[in-house]
Amino acid sequence: MKTKLAPSILSADFSRLGEQVREVINAGAEWLHVDVMDGHFVPNITIGPLVVKALKPIAREHNVLLDVHLMIEYPDRYIDAFARAGADIITVQVEACVHLHRTVQAIRDAGARPGVALNPATPLVTVSEILPYIDLLLVMSVNPGFGGQRYIPTSTRKIAQARRMIDACGQAIELEVDGGIKVHNAREVANAGATVLVAGSAIFNRERSVTENIAAFHQALGQE
Ligand code: DX5
Ligand code: ZN
Repeated sequence: MKTKLAPSILSADFSRLGEQVREVINAGAEWLHVDVMDGHFVPNITIGPLVVKALKPIAREHNVLLDVHLMIEYPDRYIDAFARAGADIITVQVEACVHLHRTVQAIRDAGARPGVALNPATPLVTVSEILPYIDLLLVMSVNPGFGGQRYIPTSTRKIAQARRMIDACGQAIELEVDGGIKVHNAREVANAGATVLVAGSAIFNRERSVTENIAAFHQALGQE
């Protein structure tokens, strides 16, 4: 199965966000990863439904999926707002949800596809019961809150374990990995079983253009 790239706009130049998003879409990105942070669940504040709404027309025009990652407390309060803004996937952190089954159902009822994310120290067993109800499992390979961090090496074993869990479940669940993904470790992460790679600073940076960075990932993944 082809490994999809989900560029994270967290590392984009926000003074020209529309231009950067068009660039990454024209370079072949099928998903756009939108990192929402509230300054409570993580020590950083980013964006809200307003930006998802602003990006939706560009995403819709190119059939690109808005993959919204909620690193926030009390995500239930914002599911409808993000779904109305145009989020295709809404991913909540398992650590922020007391009633995760109800939250996942609420995301589906709001018309979006539910995802569940696990921080690096959170064991996979915490999602064993919810797995049959979700469309995406997100394994964080950095501690959430910032772009440009280093990939936590033990994540690879966790990704392979998640792959086995999903295969045993027998449902079409995307396995997304997020944090410290670079051209040099992309194939390792894909070979461990990831179907979606999130990359922020490896795609949006001053060293090379977005187009060159996306092409380097496709080459690393054998998808020239
Ligand atoms: C971190 C975010 C990630 C981040 C990835 O909390 O969830 O999506 O933007 O950035 P890089 O690829 O630079 O690690
Ligand atoms: Zn993210």
